[in-house]
Amino acid sequence: MTEIVPVARAFEPAGLGQELSVRGWVLRSRSSGGILFLQLRDRTGTLQITARRDALGEPAFAAAEHVQIEGAVRVRGTVAEDRRAPGGRELRAEEITVIDAGAPFPIFQDQTEEFLLDQRHLAVRSQEHVAMWRLKASLLRAFRRFFDAEEVLEVTPPILTGNAAEGGAEAFRFDYFGRPGYLSQTAQLYLEALLAPNERVYALTPSFRAEKSRTPRHLTEFMHLEVELAWCDLDGLTDFIERMLVSVLHEIAERSGRELELLGRPPSELLSIVAPFPKISYESAVDRLRSQGFDFAWGRDLGTAEERALTLESRSPLFITRYPRETKAFYMLQSPDDPRTVEATDLLGPEGYGEIVGASCRETSIERLTEQLRARGVDPAEYDWYLDLRRHGNVPHAGFGIGIERLLRFVTRREHIRDTTPFPRTPSRHTP
Ligand code: 4AD
Ligand code: MG
Repeated sequence: MTEIVPVARAFEPAGLGQELSVRGWVLRSRSSGGILFLQLRDRTGTLQITARRDALGEPAFAAAEHVQIEGAVRVRGTVAEDRRAPGGRELRAEEITVIDAGAPFPIFQDQTEEFLLDQRHLAVRSQEHVAMWRLKASLLRAFRRFFDAEEVLEVTPPILTGNAAEGGAEAFRFDYFGRPGYLSQTAQLYLEALLAPNERVYALTPSFRAEKSRTPRHLTEFMHLEVELAWCDLDGLTDFIERMLVSVLHEIAERSGRELELLGRPPSELLSIVAPFPKISYESAVDRLRSQGFDFAWGRDLGTAEERALTLESRSPLFITRYPRETKAFYMLQSPDDPRTVEATDLLGPEGYGEIVGASCRETSIERLTEQLRARGVDPAEYDWYLDLRRHGNVPHAGFGIGIERLLRFVTRREHIRDTTPFPRTPSRHTP
């Protein structure tokens, strides 16, 4: 038996005229008269296989003809030129071994979104889905490369926790051996604990939000990339986020151009995103919204419609800084010159995509932290371990969280965030 090689080998200059064996899944199958055409797919691409009844012999030809879409075969043959075949070459089969003929594949064109979500375990093989999973891997690789270069240490915080750090209402609660347990909404509190003495840490973990709202940008489970930086103020924070995003967006533009093109985002558009990003205060965002006709009171949180209006016409991300205290979490640092606001910033994606990064400086005063917990109806005793961090080497620090799927939604111009994750978790669906 000849050595099994990736299908891409057939398209190398030296491939022509070679005898080789390939294996993979059948993307398309068509037979006419005594010839069978298969499109075979493996991790490296697709290759047209042509098989003649007289070359294969009757029983082998009949078996190959019965292989369904997404069935699996191994093929030995010779690479030949064929101008009509994708890539200009085909493999003329001498032998086809059926590994799994497969049942009739349930997915074909023009099916409803609901049906495709029910069939997600099979739909994830489509060309578009695979491009998305490859792009996502490329994006995570780019982040890790950036953090390595910046000496940010990767750490592994827990998912099961006794604290609902981002607010109790949206935490998934469960019974942890008789005590309340929560699925992590953020790794932040643990990152703050792991900050000293490495000064800069990050974690990539699933985060969970029991948000009942069915919006095109909320998942109940998402990949959360969080960073915590010691000795950092609001300017240092926006500076870091900017450099990080430009670095990863440019890297995927350079390394994953094929996937980006296929998904509808020309890489040049990502290359044109450069630092610094514009920054406006919440205060001036409110003015801007009012001038656009919004009836918006100071103190309210920016919702989907407001965020969209602020960046719809923009090709650059936009930082909104210094939010009213009440719209944000308990741990955010009070602004030095205004007790009504906190040193927080959200980064809104371009083209109306809305919040992609949530960031803030962390409150260092135990008194204020205690006060803010009480104001939210939380017993500070539950956060005693967290408050302890302010008793031992309490230094200024800041951090942020970025939703990987939110970022990908913008990068790939998807209407719905569920397209950016293989098995989307939403209020109406947790299976398959
Ligand atoms: O703004 P959030 O809630 O901030 C935090 O959790 C901070 N503790 C992070 C930190 O400072 N370490 O969430 C951060 C980001 C959001 O900007 C958004 O991109 C994403 O997480 N996110 C979601 N993505 C998908 N579905 C959801 N339901 C999301 N909720 C937040
Ligand atoms: Mg937020």
